[in-house]
Amino acid sequence: MKWDLEHRRAVITGAANGIAKATALLLAGEGTRLVLVDLDADKLAATADECRTAGAEQVETFAADLTDGEKVHELGDLVRDSMDGLDLLIPAAGIIGRDPIDQMPDEHWDRIMNINVRAVFQLNRELLPQMADGGSVVLFSSDAGRRGSPGKAAYATAKAAIVGLARSIVGEVGRRQIRVNIVAPGFIDTRMNAQTFAEKGDVLADETPLGRNGRPEEVASVIAFLCSDASSFVNGTIVPINGGHYMAG
Ligand SMILES: NC(=O)c1ccc[n+]([C@@H]2O[C@H](COP(=O)([O-])OP(=O)(O)OC[C@H]3O[C@@H](n4cnc5c(N)ncnc54)[C@H](O)[C@@H]3O)[C@@H](O)[C@H]2O)c1
Repeated sequence: MKWDLEHRRAVITGAANGIAKATALLLAGEGTRLVLVDLDADKLAATADECRTAGAEQVETFAADLTDGEKVHELGDLVRDSMDGLDLLIPAAGIIGRDPIDQMPDEHWDRIMNINVRAVFQLNRELLPQMADGGSVVLFSSDAGRRGSPGKAAYATAKAAIVGLARSIVGEVGRRQIRVNIVAPGFIDTRMNAQTFAEKGDVLADETPLGRNGRPEEVASVIAFLCSDASSFVNGTIVPINGGHYMAG
């Protein structure tokens, strides 16, 4: 499928792995210009090489821990200097945690909140002023943000917070024809879920009407739709991408 994303300028965080990497590769094939960000410098460089091979018009990389607010500021400078602004913001970098509430150290709670929520807020604060009119932002919630997730309270709280953040920004940038939407993936086969799938991947697949877990590419294609003019009147919405798994609960 072809999207109208050629020459558009995208910032994608978490691009060394999983859903963000699949999104980067899809957009690269459309001729999008990319700034790719991740903590893992080596894997980020590998993603960038694959994106160049796939046809990206321009690929910049920024290896950084986005829980450091100063790095978010430096990223803003890179976007300004290398692409003179942006059209698409896809802050996918995130982590999950596995702590029952009575055993969760403050540091785990803070780390999960800092990357999954605070960095997303800071990225929007830094980059929305540079975004061209008609741009698109796609934020990452989760089924966990709606249903909760025992043993993952910090993650579920963070993913619920993203909905409030997104729907507030919508009202601030809409008159610039900038849209802000949310994807809420279910169980997608990435390293984030490696332990969960090792423990009960088949059970989760069985609970899903489609009888399987999702692939990163199946989230990337929805993100591309939300970035493209094909979704030009879709704004402030949550798109579940879970194979119908929400019918299980
Ligand atoms: N996989 C799923 O089933 C699923 C479900 C719902 C929501 N999501 C969301 O989708 C997004 C992508 O998840 P994924 O499954 O592709 O995960 P992933 O673990 O495969 O990739 C996440 C990436 O974020 C990067 N990252 C983590 N902390 C960072 C930091 N402090 N600074 C910079 N980069 C950092 C990691 O290095 C990694 O490359 C996340 O926001 C996640 O919460 C995933």
